[in-house]
Amino acid sequence: MLCLGIESSCDETALALVEDGRLLGSVLASQSDVHALFGGVVPELASREHYRYLGPLFDELMQRCGTEPDSIDLVAVARGPGLLGSLLVGVAFAKTLALGLGASFLGVNHLHAHLLAVGLERDLTFPALGLLVSGGHTHLYRLESPWRCLQLGRTLDDAAGEAFDKVGKLLGLAYPGGQLMDALARAGVASPGLFPRPYLDNDNLDFSFSGLKTAAAAYIERNFGSAQWPRPLRRIEDAPESLRNCCASFNAAVVETLCAKVERALKRHPDLRRLLVAGGVASNSLLRKRMTELMRERGGDALMPSRALCTDNAAMIAYAGWLLGSAGYRHDLRMETIPRGRRIPDDMFCAASCASKLQTD
Ligand code: KG4
Ligand code: ZN
Repeated sequence: MLCLGIESSCDETALALVEDGRLLGSVLASQSDVHALFGGVVPELASREHYRYLGPLFDELMQRCGTEPDSIDLVAVARGPGLLGSLLVGVAFAKTLALGLGASFLGVNHLHAHLLAVGLERDLTFPALGLLVSGGHTHLYRLESPWRCLQLGRTLDDAAGEAFDKVGKLLGLAYPGGQLMDALARAGVASPGLFPRPYLDNDNLDFSFSGLKTAAAAYIERNFGSAQWPRPLRRIEDAPESLRNCCASFNAAVVETLCAKVERALKRHPDLRRLLVAGGVASNSLLRKRMTELMRERGGDALMPSRALCTDNAAMIAYAGWLLGSAGYRHDLRMETIPRGRRIPDDMFCAASCASKLQTD
């Protein structure tokens, strides 16, 4: 089965082709530079950029892969969560394409596509614990299969990536700050007591990073009021030691908090030997190291996609589409998008719960 994946949920426009579980090719236009001017994603601009790029990127992908459009069996698209306008542009493009080509159509949950992405590089086995850490979400799942998962915990306010980006902004780092903070952290020394490990004094598996963000904001105000470095800062070489150390301390606070909740989840689900870590923040060096150690100590395995598959991309949509499509799931063209804030079914993949399952046997 040849599956085209389309991603347009936030500020990356991307398309990819997956055939029988293998990635044939992918193209991506990042809008980071456009939004960096405003220090965050501007929804209307994001929709316009998707509208501008989808057509040309589709042609480029077909050319690169040497594929004829009418050989596409299934068009899979990120149906949410995300920015409504951005999602609508991608979903309208996908529906039109599916209709024009006579291909099947499937909406994919962007979050679950993140979690499954590592299947393009490693063997996926279930059950597994899933930690999704992105710019908009920090969720813990128990995955029973590619199409069945149970949400165990979620962030009550800021997502981990959002906390990185907001603190990065306060520090005058180029947007989005997560990746640069990671690099600065590697060049600094963390002080364990500088920032709190938030929302651990409870017995649940939820997260809350807004208190940590407030503590970081107060520290920055107190200590860096008159500090000078080029703004927006783009290069580690321009960062003074105090800034590098602050990033190392903040980074450690986020990562240790994530580790503590993962450990708690593993205690409650002792049968789980595999951990999937996904989303943009999964490319964080310290997080990758700590999660690998944590699972190794328990005789298990932590699977994380390569960095290009951690941040938003279409390969993960095409792969999730192929997995679900191969199991017989389809949507009809009345499928709606699920913008951020609208409830996603808790206990199953969004696609599986809303799509009809074809009777294949
Ligand atoms: O998954 P993603 O590309 O988009 C969403 O679906 O949100 O995640 C983007 C987020 C941003 O907040 C970005 O700052 C963060 O991932 N990020 C990182 C790193 N690389 C990207 N955060 C910490 N360390 C990194 N290395
Ligand atoms: Zn994402």
